[in-house]
Amino acid sequence: MRPEARGTRMDWELGISGYIAPATLSAAVRYLAESSTQEYPPLVWAGGTDLMPRMRMRWLDSPEQGGLQSLLSLRSVSELSGIEVVGDMLRIGSLTTIEEMRRSPLISAHAPALAIACDLFASFQIRHAATLGGTLVNASPAADTAGPLLVHQAVVVCAGWRDGGVDERHIPLAEFWLGPGRCALAADELLVAVELPIFPDSGWVAYEKHCRRPAKDISIVSITLAVEPDGDGGLCRSSLALGAVAPTPLLVPQVAELLAEGGFGSKEGHSRASRMAAEAASPIDDVRGSAAHRRHLVEVLTHRALDGIAARMGYSDFNGYEPPQRMTITQSGSALTNCELPPMTPQPSAELQEGDIEVNFTLNGGPMRRNIAAGATLVALLREDENLTGTKIACEEGECGACSVLLDGRAVQSCLTLAVECEGREVVTVEGVYAPDGELHDLMEDMLIEGGVQCGFCSPGMVISGLSHFLNGGGGGEQELARAIEGNLCRCTGYLRLLSGLERHAARLGGGVGLE
Ligand SMILES: Cc1cc2nc3c(=O)[nH]c(=O)nc-3n(C[C@H](O)[C@H](O)[C@H](O)COP(=O)(O)OP(=O)(O)OC[C@H]3O[C@@H](n4cnc5c(N)ncnc54)[C@H](O)[C@@H]3O)c2cc1C
Ligand code: FES
Ligand code: FES
Repeated sequence: MRPEARGTRMDWELGISGYIAPATLSAAVRYLAESSTQEYPPLVWAGGTDLMPRMRMRWLDSPEQGGLQSLLSLRSVSELSGIEVVGDMLRIGSLTTIEEMRRSPLISAHAPALAIACDLFASFQIRHAATLGGTLVNASPAADTAGPLLVHQAVVVCAGWRDGGVDERHIPLAEFWLGPGRCALAADELLVAVELPIFPDSGWVAYEKHCRRPAKDISIVSITLAVEPDGDGGLCRSSLALGAVAPTPLLVPQVAELLAEGGFGSKEGHSRASRMAAEAASPIDDVRGSAAHRRHLVEVLTHRALDGIAARMGYSDFNGYEPPQRMTITQSGSALTNCELPPMTPQPSAELQEGDIEVNFTLNGGPMRRNIAAGATLVALLREDENLTGTKIACEEGECGACSVLLDGRAVQSCLTLAVECEGREVVTVEGVYAPDGELHDLMEDMLIEGGVQCGFCSPGMVISGLSHFLNGGGGGEQELARAIEGNLCRCTGYLRLLSGLERHAARLGGGVGLE
């Protein structure tokens, strides 16, 4: 790492050589095909929550690589968006964000395990940016969406440019991952969508992400179980998937076989199935947990999931059994949230540009036009060029929330957001939250009255997260409010006074809030 580069403008520009944002899938895959033979083919950019920290590391470690790679942004490709039912399948566009999936009634109704996983995925800021495609192509064995999509029998739709047209191929998700960080997508292909059969209303799912703090940590182990009863006391299908215990997310078909052969619904059968799951795992020791601990967790959590679902289905051996709260057991349609997220405004496309790039967006209510480097982060633009230093910078990797801003009304971390990706959108920093006469916004006042401000470093990020919560239909329940700021760290207040401030504001509103 080059220490002299940290915290400087250079640090933030990441050395990107060019930028293109095609309007259509065919233009995007054609560009990929034409540039795939280059020594440094373009980087496909979706939410950037994986790429930004990775690129910053690479740029700091080996700046000689800077300036060699261009970005292909997916922001304007409308074919990659949307969640819809097509026949008896659910189709989810790869550009759908985790928060859009978390709030989708269709996903809650037809892919309940995925809905739970999205609920436990990182913080609001990350969920507002991270996409389904990014989480799958990233190929992490610990990805929260992986197990649920496996038990829901997902198929990945990929597209490339072949013989003068867009050519699609379908890959079962179980065959998609090849190892940590590696997947079956060819270098000149894009992931277009994921398709999964509609989960039956009578089915049950269980999911647990075992970690210290879901908003900040990836799982030590995750487990997803789906069970489809046959209506006659048996099962027509079951599926168990494990996360973070093998080089790729892992299906355990031998457990499904055992359950189908009468192992489900008895204590002995569940014990055998749980031991089988633990034997199938091949975990490693790492900073998050030892291999032995992980294997033990697989056995315990599989047992709890089986017992919990059997209890809900009325098997007498499990009367009254409730697994600990960390495990969620549910059926189709048990909505986790009652507020669908309105779709994002479509963004304008951009031709291939090199050197500085013109970007136009609305900043705190006024028009903004700047020429900036393609790799410049939004926080660099705000603090360095616009002198809007209310937006703080600390961890630079999406952990602390100090750099949060509103992007089209949703909190995101400006250290993980490329300024060029804000084209055509509306950015609000804490400076834009004040009333036009300079008076404090009601939310700021409520936080102040309740003593939710000490050194004040986290306060701008807290205000932005609070506003994002209320603007997007969040309610005033204690747990909901705590979750609203779980992506923001505060070293001073102990959080309780911040929560009191949010509670006071929720009471003042009795509903949603505007910025006026
Ligand atoms: C602070 C923090 C907390 C996190 N917490 C969690 C967590 O709790 N659970 C979890 O599972 N993950 C977590 N992550 C990881 C991360 O958010 C996900 O992996 C994310 O889903 C990646 O999606 P993205 O859209 O941001 O991808 P990007 O960063 O844009 O891209 C990731 C990779 O996918 C490729 N790509 C993206 N879309 C496509 C496409 N359509 N076609 C072809 N290639 C594509 C990119 O080229 C790149 O290689 C966390 C990350 C951070 C920074
Ligand atoms: S999350 Fe952006 S600086 Fe910490
Ligand atoms: S008030 Fe000091 S970090 Fe939160």
